Amino acid sequence: MREQFKKTLTFRHATKSFADKKVSREDLNYILEAGHMAPSSFGVEPWKFLVVQGEVLKEKLKEASFNQAQVGNASAVIVLLTRKDLYLNDGYVEPLLRRIGDDLYENFYKAFYDGYTKPMTQEQITDWGDKQTHLAAMNMMSAAAAIGIDSCPIGGTDPVAVAELLNVDTETYVVSMLLPVGYREHEPYTKNRRPFEEVVTFID
Ligand SMILES: Cc1cc2nc3c(=O)[nH]c(=O)nc-3n(C[C@H](O)[C@H](O)[C@H](O)COP(=O)(O)O)c2cc1C
Repeated sequence: MREQFKKTLTFRHATKSFADKKVSREDLNYILEAGHMAPSSFGVEPWKFLVVQGEVLKEKLKEASFNQAQVGNASAVIVLLTRKDLYLNDGYVEPLLRRIGDDLYENFYKAFYDGYTKPMTQEQITDWGDKQTHLAAMNMMSAAAAIGIDSCPIGGTDPVAVAELLNVDTETYVVSMLLPVGYREHEPYTKNRRPFEEVVTFID
């Protein structure tokens, strides 16, 4: 498993162009399930995933993403949204927090969550959610790579234009990132990474 996972990490690369080959619904579900299983702060899953497969819409998403080819020629574009309604009083989180059990919720979790989130501005709370959505995206990229499917995280997009194209309820969500998936058209360049020793410091 150690070697297999390392191979998966090496296989994954930010794919710049996809071949004309469809990802099956079963494989898409496998990838999406990995996003669904991602960790989230207090377990409130502050995300939603839209899956775009239609050619016309993919082309429009490409145009909203600096014309990056991989958005247009992917088999599917997963659009990751982050929820903005993450304050306790917004209604969304309460039933999710209650999954811990009513007693624990009432006597501990509710005040803990409220105390943690209340001092945040709306922008800060959305950023907090958005970081977590990025974890879901990473889970999806790794899951895709594990089954031989390529992907590319796309931050280079106009989130407002994407929200408009997909009729996203912008009272509740912001567009976090796009994740085109498919099969690579070309072999990737060799991976560039800073030296391990420069990036990692062990502290006793
Ligand atoms: C938040 C984020 C946004 C990114 N946005 C883009 C993008 O818009 N277009 C693109 O081609 N790659 C994008 N990338 C991919 C990076 O350029 C890529 O991961 C990095 O250069 C390392 O290459 P590798 O993933 O192939 O190992 C993004 C990556 C992250 C984490």
